[in-house]
Amino acid sequence: CLTPEILHLHQLEGKIAVVTDVLRATSCMVAGLNAGVKSVIPVKKVEEALTYAAKGYVTAGERGGVKVEEFTIGNSPYEHMEEAYHGKSICMTTTNGTVAIDAARKSADQVVIGALLNVSSIGRYIKEQQKDVIIICAGWKGNPSLEDTLFAGALVDQLKEEVEITDDATYMALSQYQSAKNNLSEVIQNHASHAKRLSGLKAQNDLAFCATEDYCDVLPILNGDEITIK
Ligand code: MLT
Repeated sequence: CLTPEILHLHQLEGKIAVVTDVLRATSCMVAGLNAGVKSVIPVKKVEEALTYAAKGYVTAGERGGVKVEEFTIGNSPYEHMEEAYHGKSICMTTTNGTVAIDAARKSADQVVIGALLNVSSIGRYIKEQQKDVIIICAGWKGNPSLEDTLFAGALVDQLKEEVEITDDATYMALSQYQSAKNNLSEVIQNHASHAKRLSGLKAQNDLAFCATEDYCDVLPILNGDEITIK
């Protein structure tokens, strides 16, 4: 599912939903949890996050790529990895990533958080589970995005022996990934519209990091309200 706008066309019941927002929400979650963050609580609205802030939680996220002023941190994976947040729960809301998680959690059997950073961990888990999977790309405000499509293709590439590709979106993601896999970082930096937006916001350092395949081996899963490492 290349954008949550068409999620209603898909059946989620009985499936594992892998949600991705490579730039940058799910990359922050994966990197932070790998570094030592205890859990991430994704919420849809800034107001909800502020109720967590009032209870003493660390808050993180952005709107339009820019840190929400009242939050503890923004949406750079480097911030999420800082030692100050190890052992803490972070309540997070972002323009697209947490919206996609919220849409997925309503009917999928399980919600798994994916990024290029942990794509092989997700691939291995899915092979073990032997269940139907839907990959939900957060995109940008209803539009598909190159970096999320590349993640979908990278995951399908790992599963291609197990699955029969019967839909165009899956084939498109796989072929896009196969043509870009040797220079993912350049392709994302030169062609992804959100990479250009983030460069304008002086967040270039995040781009190469988020484009790193298999930086870590973690499997973040949504349990109730919290994402934790399985
Ligand atoms: C989002 O959820 O849209 C992104 O994570 C935005 C960003 O890059 O900060």
